[in-house]
Parts: sequence; C-alpha cells; structure tokens
Amino acid sequence: MSPKKNLLTTKEMAQFANQGFLRFDELIPRDLCDRLSKDIDSGKIDGRAPAGTPFNEVWQGQPIREVFDHPRVCGIIESLVGPNPRYDHHYPHITQKGGKHQFIHADAEFDPRVGAFDIQFSFFPQDVTPDMGGTLFVPGSHFHRVHESQVGIYQNIVGMQQFSGKAGTILVWHTNLWHSGRRNDSDNTRYMFKLRLNPMVKQQLLWNTDDLHDADSLSPLKGHQPWHGQQHRVFLMNVARFWQYLSNDPSFDPEFWWSRIENEPKATAT
Ligand SMILES: [Fe+2]
Repeated sequence: MSPKKNLLTTKEMAQFANQGFLRFDELIPRDLCDRLSKDIDSGKIDGRAPAGTPFNEVWQGQPIREVFDHPRVCGIIESLVGPNPRYDHHYPHITQKGGKHQFIHADAEFDPRVGAFDIQFSFFPQDVTPDMGGTLFVPGSHFHRVHESQVGIYQNIVGMQQFSGKAGTILVWHTNLWHSGRRNDSDNTRYMFKLRLNPMVKQQLLWNTDDLHDADSLSPLKGHQPWHGQQHRVFLMNVARFWQYLSNDPSFDPEFWWSRIENEPKATAT
C-alpha cells in the first residue's frame, strides 16, 4: 500500500479523467535512465511475460523493475488501476534517425467499457528534443472509439501534444487515447518504453481523496479541447459519466446533462 503522499490527488485524477493522460517530468533518476537506455539498445529488456501475469511477478531483478518500483510510480499505478494490477504487455520502442510517422490511432476501438480502463505508461529514458519526434497524443480523445483509418488521415489536430522533455519523464494515459509515434528527424536514436496494465479491482476512490471536497479539485473536469467544437457537450457528458464511476457517485452531474435526458417520468398525471 502506497503512502498517501505518493498517490494522485483528486485534482490530478480529475485531470486524467478529462484529458486522458498525466505527465511527470524527470521522475526517474538519470543514472537509472542511462543504464536502461543501454539495456534497451542491446536488446536486454525482453523478459516478456504472458499477458495476465500479476505485474509484481514481472522483471524481477531487472533494472526496468526499478522504474515501476519507484515509490511515486507505485502510487500512480495504485491510484489508477489499484493494487496488484495485471501485466498486459510491454514494448521498448526504438526509432532510428529517419524513422517514419505512425498514423494517429486508438489502440482499442473494440473496448466497450465505460468506467473500467487500462493504463499505458510511456517512459522516456533519455532527453527527447522536438526533432526526435516523440510520442504524440490528442488530449480528450479517450471517449471517442474510432477505427484507426478514421483518424489516421490527419497529420495535425488542434490541441494535440507531441512529447519532448528530459530523461526520466513518464506519461501515463488511458489506453483509448489517440496517439502516434512521430518521425525522428534528428541524428539520435529515440527510445520509449511502453507498458500496459489491467485493473483487478473497481477503479473507484483509489487515489488520495483528502481533497475530494475542496472547491477547486474538480475544476479540471470542466475543460474541453478546441478540436471538440460543438461536440464538447457530448465530451463533458462522457467526462461526467466517467467521474460517476471513478468517484462511485452516480448522482454526479454538474451540468444536469444526464439528469435531463434520463428523465422519463413513470408517474401518471392525476
Ligand atoms: Fe498504439
């Protein structure tokens, strides 16, 4: 069990619910990053376990385990998917100079879940400059189930973010977020370590809820993205539905959207 100080706050969870990802800069010490870059480069990080293995049994004794045993990373995992999650898969992405764009896509068009969700980590063990073409994300896209060919035609979407940053930075994202790896225009090889985890418990109130009732904690739930246009209303309804699940509060409906459309009176006028 992680101490409260390492868990996400309610405000961070609200940011995750709304944008579909969180970013933690320079979280992992650089000396560990340097060791891992060498391991990735030499193909030492394999150790792929069968999907469904308890995550705490994966990579025992390997340096990559140190990243996911970092106290803050443990707190992030516990806040989002609970204790003892299930390993799904990992992959060390290596993109050489001139490596091509992936098209923008969502990984799991077929995932029908409304509340429960998997998470993916993108861990960057080296500095990533803009010309190295780091991972691209489209904030607020995690409620839009799309076939990848529907969005793969777009190279630029208003509000998208392309990662660049310092070694040791971690992104954690809802697996339905639209994303892609970008072309590497630099002379350096780019590394990105991906890990997907599945929850084994209800993902409700797993974070540090001390600030649950603070006035500002839920303010991130109101945000929407410029590419949503008039669909921002549908987006906000989806955020509200997601927060109902996360907070285990079916009455949460700040804009009255769900209360309005679920109003089908049974009473007969007298
Ligand atoms: Fe993908």
